[in-house]
Amino acid sequence: MNISVNDQMGDFDGVIIPFYENLLATSVLKLPLEALKESKKFEGKIGTTYKLTTITDGKLNEVVLLGLGEVDKLTSRKVLNAFGSAYRVMKKQKVEQVVLNIQGLEKEEFLAKAATEAVVMADYKFDLKTKEKEEKDIKLELITSVNMDVIQESFVLAESNIIGRDLVNQPANLMNPITLSEKVIELGEEKGFDVEVLELKHIESLKMDAFLSVAKASAVEPRFIIMRYKGNPESDDILGYVGKGLTYDSGGLSIKPTNSMVDMKSDMGGSAAVIGAMCAIADMKLKTNVVSVVAACENMIAGNSYRPGDIIGSMGGKSIFIGNTDAEGRLTLIDAMHYIVTRENVKQVIDIATLTGAAIHCTGNAASVAISNNDDFYNKVDESFNKSGEQIWRMPIFDEYKELIKHEEADLTNTAGSPGTITAGLFIGEFTGDLPWVHIDIAGTAFAKKEEGILSKGATGVGVRPLYYLAKK
Ligand code: BES
Ligand code: MG
Ligand code: ZN
Repeated sequence: MNISVNDQMGDFDGVIIPFYENLLATSVLKLPLEALKESKKFEGKIGTTYKLTTITDGKLNEVVLLGLGEVDKLTSRKVLNAFGSAYRVMKKQKVEQVVLNIQGLEKEEFLAKAATEAVVMADYKFDLKTKEKEEKDIKLELITSVNMDVIQESFVLAESNIIGRDLVNQPANLMNPITLSEKVIELGEEKGFDVEVLELKHIESLKMDAFLSVAKASAVEPRFIIMRYKGNPESDDILGYVGKGLTYDSGGLSIKPTNSMVDMKSDMGGSAAVIGAMCAIADMKLKTNVVSVVAACENMIAGNSYRPGDIIGSMGGKSIFIGNTDAEGRLTLIDAMHYIVTRENVKQVIDIATLTGAAIHCTGNAASVAISNNDDFYNKVDESFNKSGEQIWRMPIFDEYKELIKHEEADLTNTAGSPGTITAGLFIGEFTGDLPWVHIDIAGTAFAKKEEGILSKGATGVGVRPLYYLAKK
């Protein structure tokens, strides 16, 4: 996709025209808007589209009218998905040059940012087909008086979101802990953050027993990836991000049924969120300090697999009973969490993970699920999600739940039972020290079954843009 910004319309064969509900009028093209409204075929309701074809001087123009609803009811989520949908309708028409005209509309800057972000994200599609001829890139011209610099951030955010999606969408035979770490090194060089990759011997010397227990049955070695961005060297305030980086989760000896396994390349959605956010943070040169870590490995099966019934150690020293080898994410996360808290001097910490199927029972695909030990920090996370148009929902921490992660023969158990999303989060919370902490479970939001609005089928890049906004705060 190639986007330019202009205040006058150039050549086009496709035009997207957004309208607020009460302002169904335009001088752009002579369209029968009153008749459309009366027929109730298009009334400008938020997210609705109406497609028609006009002929001017013998040339076909595809027109997509887009409803923006009522101006004071606009939210980031609604407007992003509206622009995403309109762009999808247009793309199906095989056009080459599209103009999207928002000039003079109320909240023009907000619309310009959202439109940019939405079309770049909606344009993305993953496949590894061997193509006969490359599909032509659509040229999109945004007609607005808003300055290009204002829109720059939206480009970066959309592109970083796509970096996240693309990391996850690569199948696990191509994207493994080693190739992931190599990719992060490349991204660090390109965007401007430091990357350190710890190999097996180093991970062993740090005594990351929990992480290593999960990783050891894989034919591919684990990697511990550290990303550092110091945009404000005078300050010792550092924000810490921990992302779950299971490049594949077979369940281990507690093996998953095939149907649950096919999409498990997505079990690195948390790592994609933090890597994508680092790209955006560095690209925008934010004046802040962020360190992100990913304990990257595969959960596989072999003669040396860790077993249900084992009691293992962890970098933080606590012993852990293994009730189920498919509850592996929390094991990799506690060593990553202990590392970032004790070695990287972070002052607040987030972990983000495709952690529990139970999260899907909580909020489906509509929202990520969170727990936190700190209201102020959580509120900032909540605001950052809202700004990005992604949804998040906080669950409670009742005293009863804290008992469930304890075990008779070990300090902790990795299978604490229901409510599974909260107990999984609390297990990680045992390793955060006293830091303000938010745990985000993205099992329901990291991977989409179908394309819709800004989302393509497959990875969603969830978390990338919220974690950027949080760092910006
Ligand atoms: N990666 C899965 C969670 C998951 C499920 C992500 C569905 C995306 C979609 C995780 O490692 C897992 O297997 N969790 C188990 C935990 C259980 C064994 C305590 C689960 O949720 O079933
Ligand atoms: Mg699992
Ligand atoms: Zn998993």
